[in-house]
Amino acid sequence: MTVKLNPLQVNQLKWREKILKAALQLVPADDVRIVETGTIRMRPGFSTLFFARMIRDVWKGKGNLVSIDMNRVHISLSIDILRENDLEQFVEWKLGDSKEWITQRKESIDFLYLDSAWYPPVILGEFQAAEQHMHKHTIVAVDDCENEPRYGPQGKGTDVIPYAESKGWRVRVINGPKKRMAVMRKEEVC
Ligand SMILES: C[S@@+](CC[C@H](N)C(=O)[O-])C[C@H]1O[C@@H](n2cnc3c(N)ncnc32)[C@H](O)[C@@H]1O
Repeated sequence: MTVKLNPLQVNQLKWREKILKAALQLVPADDVRIVETGTIRMRPGFSTLFFARMIRDVWKGKGNLVSIDMNRVHISLSIDILRENDLEQFVEWKLGDSKEWITQRKESIDFLYLDSAWYPPVILGEFQAAEQHMHKHTIVAVDDCENEPRYGPQGKGTDVIPYAESKGWRVRVINGPKKRMAVMRKEEVC
């Protein structure tokens, strides 16, 4: 599916990429390990494409993105888009439940991007599953943290933000065009 974005959506995407770029720059590693929950689900392609470009351009190809999605169609669309952009070598796709895949992971995580279900307990479960793989410089970004009456005052971050704060994480919630994103780290944010 190809979407035609309206001006607000274009602004939101530009804003999101700007925040993610700034947050990624806080990762001190030479060889970056990124995990995202919720992969591309429509053309022209958003987060997976963005992270793969960052690995190619900023880390000069040294790094890896694991992109997890439970929807087979979204995974195969994402593979197509990354191939068309000659970026598939930087991505490993996992089809299935995010929490299960993160739990099974063996490597550490430098950057965790949480953008799967519009259901705060799922996002919290992903974070908790990832805790064992985190180190003191790990950065976590949570998308869609705007107030969403059905789910809570901090959208996808409603459960994970207070949990992370209770465990000593510093959380900065950044306002954008009708969007909010949380960037969390153990050390001072920005
Ligand atoms: C908002 S979309 C991801 C958008 C993508 N990050 C982007 O920017 O292009 C959310 C995705 O999360 C997936 N999803 C929802 N719950 C999930 C779960 N528990 N495990 C894995 N994937 C999940 C959905 O299938 C959907 O493709």
